[in-house]
Amino acid sequence: MKTQRHLLVTSALPYANGSIHLGHMVEYIQTDIWVRFQRLRGNECYYMCADDTHGTPIMISARKQNISPQELIERMHREHTRDFAAFRISFDNYYSTNSEENRELAEYIYRQAQQLDAIYAKEIEQYYCEKDGMFLPDRMIKGTCPACKAKDQYGDACEICSATYDPTQLIEPFCAVCGAKPVLRKSTHYYFKLSAFTDKLKAWVAGGHVRPEIQNKLREWFDQGIKDWAISRDAPYFGFKIPGTEDKYFYVWMDAPVGYIASTKNWCKKNNRDFEDIWRGNGFEIHHFIGKDILYFHTLFWPAMLMAAGFSTPTRVHIHGFLTVNGEKMSKSRGTFIKAADYLAHLDPEFLRYYYASKLGAALDDLDLNLTDFVNSVNSYILGKVVNIGSRLGKIVNKKLDNKLTSIDPAGALVLQEIRTAIPKITDYYETLEFNKAMREIMTLADKVNKYINDAAPWETVKTDTAQAAKVCTAGLNALYLLTGLLKPVLPRISEGIEQFLNVPPIAWDAFDRKITDHTINEYTHLAERIDLAAAQKLVSTTAG
Ligand code: 2FM
Ligand code: ZN
Repeated sequence: MKTQRHLLVTSALPYANGSIHLGHMVEYIQTDIWVRFQRLRGNECYYMCADDTHGTPIMISARKQNISPQELIERMHREHTRDFAAFRISFDNYYSTNSEENRELAEYIYRQAQQLDAIYAKEIEQYYCEKDGMFLPDRMIKGTCPACKAKDQYGDACEICSATYDPTQLIEPFCAVCGAKPVLRKSTHYYFKLSAFTDKLKAWVAGGHVRPEIQNKLREWFDQGIKDWAISRDAPYFGFKIPGTEDKYFYVWMDAPVGYIASTKNWCKKNNRDFEDIWRGNGFEIHHFIGKDILYFHTLFWPAMLMAAGFSTPTRVHIHGFLTVNGEKMSKSRGTFIKAADYLAHLDPEFLRYYYASKLGAALDDLDLNLTDFVNSVNSYILGKVVNIGSRLGKIVNKKLDNKLTSIDPAGALVLQEIRTAIPKITDYYETLEFNKAMREIMTLADKVNKYINDAAPWETVKTDTAQAAKVCTAGLNALYLLTGLLKPVLPRISEGIEQFLNVPPIAWDAFDRKITDHTINEYTHLAERIDLAAAQKLVSTTAG
């Protein structure tokens, strides 16, 4: 028997000031497929997430809406939870970084770092908006790019020429909130001495916790020298006050990843478990799924914070690329900035899960949602190759064969054998995040099943030889059983429907040996609707503007 693994899995915590869109969904769907796969394999696997609630943008967004930040984050929590549930993202806990557990843990990590002499204070000069009465974060200050002179660029980087710079280098800076000209003001800040962790981080990176191309990227950063990290912000700030200070707050990126542990701790309390077993023992693997934009935080800052506090460092950081729609960056003006809720109003969430799976590999490539390809792929693969087996054979067995499956004929046995032989390979593809290869393999097998059924034509033979027709239907539905099991991480709802139709207990990876013969099935009920391109295109036009 294979030994059970113990896994704690996370997706990045979405900011609490924006809706979930289809770009976000790449990550949650990718993670959820992997999590469901691990559970179906019999591993102990918990999936933790939370809203990322702190920081200046959230404070400002609440101000603009005339509500308190608490009210804003509660509202967004409800919205995010609703959207994720509709896409069947199977979190064990979806919490908030604005929680007592998170405050305690963030303070704890900070104190541990202090004891290691890894925190120091330094006075710096920063832009301050006198009108808004606050220091301006890099993204809230704009001006002319010092390199290419493009106007209206953010304080940290130019979107036109990609130059990166310090906000003080901007030409004609202005406050992005009110437009006023900011002034330079001095303030003392706390720094996390990341540089002191360089050797430990190098060793961690060499340990193979990220893909080789990411290791190379990290080596470049090490060669440039690791800079210390400013972890404090001045009031007014929506966040946690730093212990021992009057008016300094933890920078949002300091308490955000701590939310992974806080969510686990909150779940442990509700489930009578000890979170230290998970975050300190060596029995649990820790897997983070993130986008390539937040690599630095998860492969340098975060492991160093964990090291400082004696928590487990990540077993693996899985990094994916970005979503493009019809070959271009998602854009509000093109109408391709599609919110999860808008998608859900028009289309079946299961279809997006399949489409993303069919496109996702283990590398960092961007993934394109091409609407024509999406429609064709869902119609011809999910409906045409898989669901169709159930509807065609179900009709015969329900109407002509008294709902009875009998035995499997030799030609059918060969097809089933072929599917079983491919299971280890498909398992491996799931494990290594090569979902696109898994989907291709499963669809090739589905083609073989359909060919077998077409050649045997049970809708014809049933008129003259019901025994033979029953054998073909039995073999075909056994094949459907296997394909359903293999697709279950991707298509949880459709799979449940097929289990119900086949009248079998929930399929898991240890149930692939089972043969469903001499068995009564249930009435076939419609499982999914074909999409037409016009309906899918509505998605873009209705959200435009
Ligand atoms: O980039 C983002 O959307 C952040 N809210 C991700 C935080 S992930 C974790 F570190 F909390
Ligand atoms: Zn201002």
